[in-house]
Amino acid sequence: MKTKIQKYIPAECPWRDTLYWYSQIDSTNVKAKELAQTGAPEGTCVIAGFQSAGKGRMGRSFSSPEGMGMYLSVILRPGCTPDKLMHLTCAVAVAVCNAVEAAAGIRPGIKWINDLVLGKKKLGGILTELGINPVSGTVDYAIVGIGINCLQQAADFPAKLQDIATSLQMLTGKPISPAAVAGSLIHALWKLDLLGEKKECMAAYKENCITLGKDVQLHRAGEIRQANAVDLDENGCLIVEFPDGTRETVGSGEASIRGMFGYI
Ligand code: BTN
Repeated sequence: MKTKIQKYIPAECPWRDTLYWYSQIDSTNVKAKELAQTGAPEGTCVIAGFQSAGKGRMGRSFSSPEGMGMYLSVILRPGCTPDKLMHLTCAVAVAVCNAVEAAAGIRPGIKWINDLVLGKKKLGGILTELGINPVSGTVDYAIVGIGINCLQQAADFPAKLQDIATSLQMLTGKPISPAAVAGSLIHALWKLDLLGEKKECMAAYKENCITLGKDVQLHRAGEIRQANAVDLDENGCLIVEFPDGTRETVGSGEASIRGMFGYI
């Protein structure tokens, strides 16, 4: 499988040589973190055929059935302070849209902040985790974990996800292989200029973000409030307007959103 994935990564990309493949694992993010803590270089990729404990944002799980999805984590070592990486998930989301479009011929949208969506359902998600050096305060490593549903049919998702999850095969009618998506994604992530033009990155994110302009339910600290998703700031925080006209800027660490009548 490792060789199959490598075939989908252009030769110019050095990350094709630092790739670990596991037929099964608890979580590729956990493994990538272990590798990062023992000195693995930037561009080390961990890919699995099955995750027994796939992790999502805010302590949720990520359904990772065997052979059906693309489960990938990459180690980045940007060497900057964490404040320079506030837009990391947004930058990765744009790269994922590019990669899925290149591999499958359809471009997902982004539901703030880390969900990839198509046809009003969830196609995948992104989980970014930072390791900070306690002495220098700089980022020792960033783990970027991405899961994309490729070959599932509706019945392959757990019952509670069947109404809100989709896959590339369900959308295109074609078997888009996890290896092809992984190869395309590794290339797109390698090309990412994380510390480059943040404004351009956020402009691209906004273009793909399906949340903006919508009425949403804002879930925060055990409270649910109705709001309109008005804009994003330069760090990817969501600017919402409440029915009384007041506005607030909310970070992804403190809040998540739902549609007024369901997932979107
Ligand atoms: C989310 O939906 O909130 C994010 C899902 C991220 C899932 C990916 S699959 C590869 C990597 N390993 C994990 O345990 N999680 C991420």
